[in-house]
Amino acid sequence: MKKIAVFASGNGSNFQAILDQIKAGTLLAEIGLVVCDKPGAAVIKRAENENIPFFHFLPKDYDSKEQFEAEILAHLRKHSIDLVVLAGYMRLIGSTLLEAYGKKMINIHPSLLPAFPGKDAIGQAIDAGVKVTGVTVHYVDEGMDTGPIIAQKSVEITDEDTKETVEEKVHRMEHVLYPTVIQKILN
Ligand code: GRF
Repeated sequence: MKKIAVFASGNGSNFQAILDQIKAGTLLAEIGLVVCDKPGAAVIKRAENENIPFFHFLPKDYDSKEQFEAEILAHLRKHSIDLVVLAGYMRLIGSTLLEAYGKKMINIHPSLLPAFPGKDAIGQAIDAGVKVTGVTVHYVDEGMDTGPIIAQKSVEITDEDTKETVEEKVHRMEHVLYPTVIQKILN
């Protein structure tokens, strides 16, 4: 069974969606590790509840990104991780991890990239007045949401929508798209 690591900084609803598909037998993989850089992040509770190994670290405890990425890499190797899945990991990936896992590292972003990269992509889309936004899964490179695109799905924004309803639609789409793309890549 191929093993994936999920990197997250917050809620972890994508982590949960991936895990639910694994449990349902529709995604043939195992989550071997969760990596989190935020104290108190809900994703850690979720991993604990499911007995999934996690590495929880505080970047400020390290002198440099190279240092904490070297430690992350040791955990990835220890758990024989085949694919790194970023799901709300609010940090640029540095050369240590890119050199080791660059072609085996993907990210999900809540917009139709290259539109609205970076923080609050849904708010950016609403402020811009676009009628269609969406979700992108892409390979990770050194940039902010810039790697080669693997898959995209669109989400409509109607006049009745609020930020909250767009967020709901986008997240629902993410939870379907990400497990599907992960399975394709693992195949
Ligand atoms: C998602 O919208 C994802 O696209 C973005 O961060 C959010 C993470 O949400 N990169 P969650 O922690 O998986 O609920």
